[in-house]
This record gives sequence, structure tokens and C-alpha cells, in this order.
Amino acid sequence: MQWHNEQVILANLDVLSESHAVEELYAREAQLKEIGICLRPITEGKKPMNAWLHGKPGAGKTATARWLLKKLKSEAGIRGIYVNCWENPTFFSVLDCIARELRMLGAEKLSTSFKLDRLKKHLSNDRLVIVLDEIDQSPPKERNAILYNLHDLPGVGLVCVCNSEHVYFDLEERVQSRLNPFRIFFEQYSPEELFKILDRRAQYALALGAYSEQLLRTIAGLADGDARIAIQTLKNAAYLAENDNHEKIRKHHVHRAWNSAKDLKKVFLLRKLTDHHCLLYELIAKNGGILSGDLWRLYLKTCRATRTKPIAVRTYSQYCNKLVELGLVQAKRAAIQGKVRKFSTIQ
Ligand SMILES: Nc1ncnc2c1ncn2[C@@H]1O[C@H](COP(=O)(O)OP(=O)(O)OP(=O)(O)O)[C@@H](O)[C@H]1O
Ligand SMILES: [Mg+2]
Repeated sequence: MQWHNEQVILANLDVLSESHAVEELYAREAQLKEIGICLRPITEGKKPMNAWLHGKPGAGKTATARWLLKKLKSEAGIRGIYVNCWENPTFFSVLDCIARELRMLGAEKLSTSFKLDRLKKHLSNDRLVIVLDEIDQSPPKERNAILYNLHDLPGVGLVCVCNSEHVYFDLEERVQSRLNPFRIFFEQYSPEELFKILDRRAQYALALGAYSEQLLRTIAGLADGDARIAIQTLKNAAYLAENDNHEKIRKHHVHRAWNSAKDLKKVFLLRKLTDHHCLLYELIAKNGGILSGDLWRLYLKTCRATRTKPIAVRTYSQYCNKLVELGLVQAKRAAIQGKVRKFSTIQ
């Protein structure tokens, strides 16, 4: 067995990792301009407007929000905090995360109201931007509490991030009307934009001469607007080429890499969803072209068989919409009239 490859293509692996902080943000000028309009009042000491960033996976929402926090600090001296609501789904854990970032002393007590009080005192009228990424991952009750209370802090602007704007419309009315965010859509990248993103990363990450412009354009075309898939494909293709002891990445490496990046995307997305989303996805995958009513009946039958408490019918529609929004499932209208939809998975 050979443990070391003679050919080294991946010169700097970190640059292709998910956590790599983007230095140059491409093709997001329009969104940055809109977020700038929302937050500008904070630079004049006023309360800013809140922003709601939404769009499909891999459209650069997290990268843009993180980039923005860095710029706010370096160019306007304004503090920003990034909270991932998938990792911190409750109001308590969000407050905990903010307290840690602000190095607030004495906020470790086990009470949400105590923490909130401490935060109010600590901030007074100080200016702060809080990014709440993956806000849809907090349970509805917690999500309403997080947004209602954080919005109440005088100098604080909220940037909420998730795949859909429906999550905003599902908030309690009192939270919706208070928050009243500027909704900013992140469309998927064009192949040319993805090429630029890949080109920059490749220059830093890969050995000179290991790839060609044509190869990056092929990946940009396959990635279907998703920057995560594009970068993953490049990384996997470089691994495969190294393992074959090639000094250059070839087209067949790209195609194999793309297939596994697509599988990885499904795992990545399904990992963040509830067991009920995953069950619905499985049922659709096993019964391609299933009608919405049949899917609901099959779902209830499976729940009965596994002694699982089913979700309500309204939630069922929301969950199906979520699978569609994430690009895991497609829904076609099954009849000319009416709302019957036919579901199948996207390969
Ligand atoms: N405009 C860009 N310039 C450079 N790199 C980018 C850009 N947009 C996205 N990326 C990179 O692509 C990957 C995916 O982007 P990001 O995590 O921001 O997507 P997202 O819209 O937040 O997706 P999700 O909805 O799944 O959370 C990251 O590695 C990110 O650094
Ligand atoms: Mg994200």
C-alpha cells in the first residue's frame, strides 16, 4: 500500500474548506448595497433596519454576512456578532453565545431573563449588528422569542439568514410587524460568476499547472449555481487526481468528484432537517411522481407503523415546501386546476 502521493496538487487545503473566510466576495454587489442601505443608520448612531437574507443553498448568504461583519468592524468600527442558530437553537443558547462573544462577566447564570437583563445593561445604547444564520433551525417558539427580544435592544440591528422568506411570514404577527425586515434575495450564481469564485480559490489552493481554465469552467457549469458544490467538486477532483498520481486534474476526475459532491449536498441538507422531513424525502425517493394526497396518506401509514406522532397537515405542507426550496425535491402541478402536486426527488 502506498501512503504518500508523489504528486501534490492540493497545496493549501484550508482555502477549499467550508470554514475558510472569504477575502474577495464576488458577484454579491447588489445584495451588499441593499444590506448597506439597511445598516447605514447605525453608522450615524441610529437604530438600523433589520435585514432578511434568503436564497438557495450555496448562494453565498453566510459568506456575505460574515464578510460584512468583518468590513463593519474594520471600516466603521462597529461590532458584529455571528450566531449560528442550528448550533444555538434556543433563545437561551443565542444569549449565551452573544454573552461569550462580548465577554460579558457574570452572565453565566442559568436564567434567560437574567442573561437578557445583563445584555441590556452591558449594551446600554451601544451599536451592534447580530447575524442570526440559519434562523429557520430554531423551533418556532424560540425563533419568535429570539427575534422579539433582540429587536427590542436599542442600538441593535439584526441580519437574519435562511433559505426562505416563508419563515418570516410564519412568525407571530407581533414579531413580524416589529421586525419588519428588508428582504434581500440571493439568486444562484451564473456559470461565469462561479468560474471567478473557483479561479480565485484554485490560485491559492492548488499547485501551479494542476488545472486549466477549461476545467474550472466545466465545474462551474456542472455546479448549477451552487458555490458550495463548485468548491467541493474542485477539492474532490484534486484528491482523486493526487491519488491517481497525476500531475493534472482530468475531466474524468471532475465528473466523479461532482457525483460525490452532489451526494454530499443531500447529506448536508438532510442533516439539518427534522426526522419528518427526512421521512417525507425517503417516501418521495421510493415513490417517484407521487401525488401530494397519496404522500400524506403514506406518511400517516408509516408513522402508525413506527408509532411516531405525525405532524399536522399544515406543517406537512410547510415541510414539503422546504424540501422543494432546498432543491431536494421538485413539485409539478398534477392537474390543470386545483392544488394537487406531484413530487419527485432531484438527482
Ligand atoms: N461570492 C463568493 N465569493 C467567494 N466565495 C463564495 C462566494 N459565495 C459563496 N462562496 C463560498 O461558497 C461556499 C458556500 O457559500 P455559503 O456558505 O455562503 O452559502 P449559503 O448561501 O450560506 O448556503 P446555505 O443556505 O446552505 O447555508 C462557501 O465555502 C463560501 O465561502
Ligand atoms: Mg449558510
